[in-house]
Amino acid sequence: MLDFAISVAQEAGALLRDRLNTNFAISNKGEDINLVTEVDLASEQLIRERIASRYPRHEVLGEEKGLDSSTSEYRWVVDPLDGTTNYAHGYPMFCVSIALEYQSEVIVGVVYDPMRDETFAAEKGGGATLNRRSIHVSRKADLMQSLLSTGFPYDIKTSKATNLDHWTNFAMNAQALRRDGAAALDLSYVACGRFDGFWELNLSAWDMAAGGLIVREAGGQVSDFSGGEFSIYKPEIIASNGLIHERMVEVLAMAK
Ligand code: IPD
Ligand code: CA
Ligand code: CA
Repeated sequence: MLDFAISVAQEAGALLRDRLNTNFAISNKGEDINLVTEVDLASEQLIRERIASRYPRHEVLGEEKGLDSSTSEYRWVVDPLDGTTNYAHGYPMFCVSIALEYQSEVIVGVVYDPMRDETFAAEKGGGATLNRRSIHVSRKADLMQSLLSTGFPYDIKTSKATNLDHWTNFAMNAQALRRDGAAALDLSYVACGRFDGFWELNLSAWDMAAGGLIVREAGGQVSDFSGGEFSIYKPEIIASNGLIHERMVEVLAMAK
C-alpha cells in the first residue's frame, strides 16, 4: 500500500507540475482568500480513480470532494494540492499528500513535492524516508537556535485566532520563522531536519495525516498545543524534533 500511495502521489504531482503556470480556472471557497483551482479538482479526481480501481471498498476523504463513506476499516485521507495559494501565484512550494488510516490510525503517509522531485514517505513502525533514504529529525535542543515554520488560517480576517500572537512570541524566542504555505511540506521538512519545529491552528485532517506520521517515524514528536495527544481530526498541531517540544508548548501558552 505504501508503494501504491507513492506511485499515485507522484502521478498526481506530475499533473500539478505540468499544469503550473497554465491558464487554469481559480475560484474561491468560503473565505475569499481560500482558493480552489481546476488543478486541485483534477488531481483529486485522478487520485480517487486510482484508489477506486485498486481498492474499490476503501473509504476516501479528500479535501475537495469530501468523504465517500463505506464499511471499510481503511480510509484514504487526501490533499490533492497542498499549497493552492502558492500554486495560483506560480510560487513553487506545493505538494500532494496521501495518507491511509486503518481502524482510525494512520499507517501510511506520502508527501510528494513535484518541483524538487522529493518523495517523503512513512509506514507505521517502519521509519521515514526521503526518496527511499532514511531521514531523521534535527538534533537542535535550544529553541533560540531553531528554525520554525507555521501558517495562518484562511479566516484570519474575521476570527480572533489569527496566530499572529504566537508568531510574535516565537519570533522573539526562536532563531527564525518561515511561512511557506504548504503544511504537509512543512511537516515533511521537520521530519528531515530542515525545520526544527512547526505549529499551526485550523488545519484539517488532509493537511496533517501523512506529514504527522512522517514526523513521528523520523523520530519526532507531534501533539496538540498543550502537549496533549495529537489527532488528525483536531485542528491544531505542534510537530518538532522532540527536543524543543516542551519549550514550544510554553511559548504557545504565553498568548493565553
Ligand atoms: C493550506 C496550506 C497552508 C496552511 C493552510 C492550509 P491548501 O492548504 O497547507 O500552508 O496554512 O491552513 O489550508 O488549502 O493549500 O490545501
Ligand atoms: Ca492543505
Ligand atoms: Ca488542498
